[in-house]
Amino acid sequence: MKHKIRLGVNIDHVATLRQVRGGTTPYPNLVDAVKASVKGGAEQITIHLREDRRHIQLEDLKVLSKVCPVPLNLEMAATAQMVKFAKKYRPDWVCFVPEKRAELTTEGGLDVKKGFKKMAPMVEKLGRIGIEISMFIEPSIEQVEASYEIGADAVELHTGKWVLLTGAKKEKEWKRLVDAAVWANYLGLNVHAGHGLDYHHSKLINKLPFLQEVNIGHSLICYALEDGLQESVRKMRKILK
Ligand code: PXP
Repeated sequence: MKHKIRLGVNIDHVATLRQVRGGTTPYPNLVDAVKASVKGGAEQITIHLREDRRHIQLEDLKVLSKVCPVPLNLEMAATAQMVKFAKKYRPDWVCFVPEKRAELTTEGGLDVKKGFKKMAPMVEKLGRIGIEISMFIEPSIEQVEASYEIGADAVELHTGKWVLLTGAKKEKEWKRLVDAAVWANYLGLNVHAGHGLDYHHSKLINKLPFLQEVNIGHSLICYALEDGLQESVRKMRKILK
């Protein structure tokens, strides 16, 4: 029987809405978002503490590392300061991601091969204290092999390009995802995937061989608005006599 794919819910954009008002509002509450996600079936919570702190804040990491009832996956850039935070707050997983200040979202995978020397001691340090490590990479054999050599536990395959492509190019990118997943599994790496997954593409990603985990954020928060706006307007209408 095929195993069940673990669902990691990325709550960054709940924090984005909070930070739009500079964090001055008591809503939306991240801990409530975690509770709702877990009630809905989330088996992991994912947060990305970005250098520019545009959504998740250090305080969120501090709180969630204490109260999150399911494994916490911290996405972070490979910097000495972030490693320090990970060592202090001990998430269950660290997912290394590339980070550029001006980007709208994570644009492309890590170059593990190029950053090998810098990242290897970080992977080793965090692994030694029991944190599992995944590398967010393009679906390329070269990057899968570098992730294996660096000692990661998993690769998270970047699905963002595949989601946006159409026709023959989409087919080609899917094949790259399949080849990378098969090779990662052969090397003993866990296969994770994420970025840009909506209902439609999540149905398709079910077919990716050896897939163990997906991390989904933006679409879920958008669907929550679509599904929930009617109810919140109804509540407000009732309050206004
Ligand atoms: N996985 C990684 C490594 C990411 O950087 C992101 C975006 O923060 C996601 C998954 C989730 O992507 P999305 O918000 O498009 O679902």
